[in-house]
Amino acid sequence: MKEVSDTTVLKKIAGTAAADLVKNGMTVGIGTGSTVAFFIEELGRRVREGLSIYGVPTSYQSRLICYQQGIPVRDPAMIDGIDIAIDGADEIDHDLNAIKGGGAAHTIEKIIAAMADEFVLIADSSKLVDRLAVSIPVPVEVIPAALSLVVRRTREAGANPKLRIAVKKDGPVITDNGNFVVDLYFSDAPDMHKLDYTLKSIPGVVETGLFIGMAHKALIAGKEGLNMLTAGRLS
Ligand code: 5RP
Repeated sequence: MKEVSDTTVLKKIAGTAAADLVKNGMTVGIGTGSTVAFFIEELGRRVREGLSIYGVPTSYQSRLICYQQGIPVRDPAMIDGIDIAIDGADEIDHDLNAIKGGGAAHTIEKIIAAMADEFVLIADSSKLVDRLAVSIPVPVEVIPAALSLVVRRTREAGANPKLRIAVKKDGPVITDNGNFVVDLYFSDAPDMHKLDYTLKSIPGVVETGLFIGMAHKALIAGKEGLNMLTAGRLS
């Protein structure tokens, strides 16, 4: 049998399988990214077959796909709670701590995750790592006026900060909230709890891409098949 190794195929397997976690009547937090796009497509197919749910998208990207798929959406500010939130990740460790924000959507993603009774990460197995932030940066969303302060303070905290530059637009990436993203590179894996606290103490940092103790489960698609990992949630 040919091994399933293509990342896109694995993302589709994880995204599609996550739709099984959504039950009739649920309010569903909908993350952002290419893995989540497969989830939304499958959810849309089920909605057209009669599944009755509301989606709470975390970005313009996901909102647009929800519209295209005919999934009714709700604004997080106007609802009391979310039954389940499903989202992708850039890295996940074995305790289900994660780095998110590759798509610059991590602030709203974190709000939706915190509102949800259950928060489930979906990913292909390349995202599973022993230690976070060794291979990829930690993104922080920053109010533009705070850029130089954030650069100085994060350097003092041991990071190499880089303003994220847009592709097919001159200048920096602007988030859905109108802010910049600064990516923090580390030569040695930092203590994530300490780092998150330090970053959030800097005036002008809106949110970090560190999702520490937030996920209940992770649905991981690898060449050996699908795995559901579970963990205790701290917050
Ligand atoms: C967006 C995110 C995404 O969930 C993360 O970047 C993973 O994306 P993909 O599924 O495309 O690999 O955090 O801010």
